[in-house]
Amino acid sequence: MKKQWLALSLALALAGTSSALQATGNTEAGKEKSAACAGCHGELGNSVAATFPKLAQQHPAYLVKQLQAFKNGDRKDPMMSAIAMSLSDKDMVDIAAYYAEHRISDNPLPILNDDDDDDDADKAATIKPEEKVAALIKQGGDLYRNGDLTREVSACIACHDPQGKGNKPAGFPLVKSQHADYLIKTLSDFKSGARSNNPENIMHMIATKMTDDEIKAVAYYISMMK
Ligand code: HEC
Ligand code: HEC
Repeated sequence: MKKQWLALSLALALAGTSSALQATGNTEAGKEKSAACAGCHGELGNSVAATFPKLAQQHPAYLVKQLQAFKNGDRKDPMMSAIAMSLSDKDMVDIAAYYAEHRISDNPLPILNDDDDDDDADKAATIKPEEKVAALIKQGGDLYRNGDLTREVSACIACHDPQGKGNKPAGFPLVKSQHADYLIKTLSDFKSGARSNNPENIMHMIATKMTDDEIKAVAYYISMMK
């Protein structure tokens, strides 16, 4: 009940923020304008490098909101801030409409980074990297669906949907099939407060209660959601 009320109040808050968030874009114009983004985000919004988020299939209002945040300084990134400065409201709406039309691509299984392998205990127990990845995905799936009531970590499913499609009217972004590296970075930014433009500080409050291992686990799980 509380969650539904929260979702509703957020939707109302978002609805009142800006007309650009509700405007419908021109996908043809958006395609042309997105040429400036393709080098990092991929031609159809499916970036290759895992630190550049995929934008394909994302709800247009969420994309516009983030671009406005980069432009006005509420969200900071050395690459995106300068780029967003050069975009008008109309550009943002058109580009968002273009990306929303494409399907987000699937990811290969995550590969553990080198620094994850320094764990002597794991080596001694000869846990194979594939087994460790599988265990993390399982742990992440449990957290995504159930949260952790004892530590007040909300279940992600409540807002981001069982399939990770988010909730368009409420402004909750699609997360499924996003790159794990970007998810880890952005969840850590929510945790540290470096990314602070989330409404009512929701994602900050959730991420601060998560350990770095849990962030990695849930990121791996989400990256494999199709
Ligand atoms: C030089 C590389 C680069 C280019 C070019 C670039 N971006 Fe980005 N973009 C990034 C990075 C890196 C991030 C992640 C920032 C962060 O970690 O907060 C990002 C994040 C975003 C996000 C937020 C996504 C989310 O899920 O929250 C949007 C929206 C976005 N970019 C749109 C664009 C658009 C539109 C263009 C072209 C006009 C563009 N970007 C060009 C590198 C780039
Ligand atoms: C009460 C609703 C709610 C819950 C529960 C919730 N989120 Fe979110 N989440 C949001 C909202 C709203 C945003 C958009 C924030 C913004 O506008 O910057 C968001 C953004 C995100 C993003 C950024 C997406 C991107 O493309 O940059 C990630 C990743 C994320 N959430 C993961 C999670 C995970 C993992 C959980 C569970 C541990 C979770 N969320 C639980 C509401 C929620």
